[in-house]
Amino acid sequence: MHRVVQISDTHLSPNKPHFACNWEPLTAWLAAERPALVIHTGDVTVDGADIDEDMSHCRGLLDAIGVPVLSIPGNHDVGEAYHPHQPVNDQRLARWRRYLGEDFWVRDLEDWRLIGLNSMLFGSDEAEERRQLAWLEGQIAEAGGRRLGWFLHRPLFVEAPDEGDKGYWSVPPRPRAQLLDLVVRHDVAFVASGHLHRAHDFTVGGTRYIWGPSSGFVVGPELQPGMAGSTTLGAVTYDFDGRDFAATIHEIAALKTLWIDDVIHEVYPPRAA
Ligand SMILES: [Fe+2]
Ligand SMILES: [Fe+2]
Repeated sequence: MHRVVQISDTHLSPNKPHFACNWEPLTAWLAAERPALVIHTGDVTVDGADIDEDMSHCRGLLDAIGVPVLSIPGNHDVGEAYHPHQPVNDQRLARWRRYLGEDFWVRDLEDWRLIGLNSMLFGSDEAEERRQLAWLEGQIAEAGGRRLGWFLHRPLFVEAPDEGDKGYWSVPPRPRAQLLDLVVRHDVAFVASGHLHRAHDFTVGGTRYIWGPSSGFVVGPELQPGMAGSTTLGAVTYDFDGRDFAATIHEIAALKTLWIDDVIHEVYPPRAA
């Protein structure tokens, strides 16, 4: 059996330690779970998209866990498609790779092929978006009968696969349709995401969609009105046993419930137009 733990949305920075108090209790919980691999589904940093020190700080924290860690970037790590101030681009991707490794990757565990995707490229029209999609198709074609599990930051959709553009919250409809086509045509057992800072676990068309909660902070209902899932801080365990898997969302009681709403003006102040 192989145990993998998904952690997400830690939002850590040496200069903005608003959520730093939740790192030690998270790593204490992780040690007790004894995973073979930790997967961080993005927003590792407060602002690694612009600040080297956030990246180097987090590199050190991840190394100190003492377990192999694979990470994929969130919007705060590499920017967003067509963002007016922080567009995802080659410079930001290079910074991510310098500190935290590949932004998309594959890891085989016996009967399973785990694929980490850089969801910030979807809809960016960057050359890297095309390169990743071609790579993904290749990794699926060469999976050798292994079952597939995807990890990404931004969920493919929030409410329904055919929903319209949810803006900030999920992958835009055009790239989403390309990805869902791959999900439908292949044995993608689960799609795990972060970004929403909410915990949720549901099945559509035989594929499980797992929203991994943040271990840093939760988001109030004014910013996420009516959104599904629960306002939970925690992590997700995946136990792979032959072709079966068990995924469990854990609320971690030792984490302090911090609300972004209380500190957003300090952590992510509005930018001048
Ligand atoms: Fe986040
Ligand atoms: Fe995010």
